[in-house]
Amino acid sequence: MDNRPIGMFDSGVGGMTVFLEVMKKFSNEDIVYLGDTKRFPYGSKSKETIIELSKKAIDFLISKNVKLIIIACGTATSQALEEVRKIYKIPIIGIIEGTIEELKKDTNNKIGVIATTGTIRTKAWENEIHNKIDSSYVISRACPLLAPMAEEGWTDNEVAKYTIKEYMKSFKGNNINKLILGCTHYPLFTNLIKEELGESVEIINTGEKLAKYLEKYLIEKNIKNTISKKGEYKLYLTDTECNFINVARKLINNEALIKKIEKIDI
Ligand code: DGL
Repeated sequence: MDNRPIGMFDSGVGGMTVFLEVMKKFSNEDIVYLGDTKRFPYGSKSKETIIELSKKAIDFLISKNVKLIIIACGTATSQALEEVRKIYKIPIIGIIEGTIEELKKDTNNKIGVIATTGTIRTKAWENEIHNKIDSSYVISRACPLLAPMAEEGWTDNEVAKYTIKEYMKSFKGNNINKLILGCTHYPLFTNLIKEELGESVEIINTGEKLAKYLEKYLIEKNIKNTISKKGEYKLYLTDTECNFINVARKLINNEALIKKIEKIDI
């Protein structure tokens, strides 16, 4: 057992979709979240930069005495996870492995993936799916406009509707039955995506899959919090001149936590 907090980071508010799922499933775990808003977006940056930024985020979270790091960002998972695991002793997980573990349980997988340009470039999802899941059917598409729109809070207006319509054209007529939201900002568009693709396509929220996987992971590593109490949360941002606060406020509905947001310099 380990009663220290879980640390997680993203470039901005997207990782809060993971935060929400982990918070729902593990009500007694403390969580420290870092939104690297000063450097948003990650999705268009080079692999070298993403590794460097991930190391900064991990160093910061380690300084907050966390027991585990969740990379709550598809871009950093696909480009930096392998590298940072070689450097740090602390357990680090990304958003891909938990989703793959869950999908493995299903035999009928015709998969679509949407993510940032950086993530799609790495083919991380395609490779994992081909290697670990009995399915060779994957189509993917980069959707670079979605994360900036989510940061702006534009997730249900007319612009969002048309943007989703345009991006979803890649999947129409392709007979997919699952769409992986490979960027943690994208669950904010779930309703619009569902409207576009219909009920026959399951929308995969990686945060939800990660939370399921985390149960097993915490037990295996013997780091589950065993104290029965309410989890405590803390949010840090590298810049506060952004819309994070408004978007997060709607998402988590916890004013006390929003009020405690702290700006840090890393
Ligand atoms: N939420 C992130 C992801 O999952 C990053 C989006 C961005 O910063 O471009 O990829």
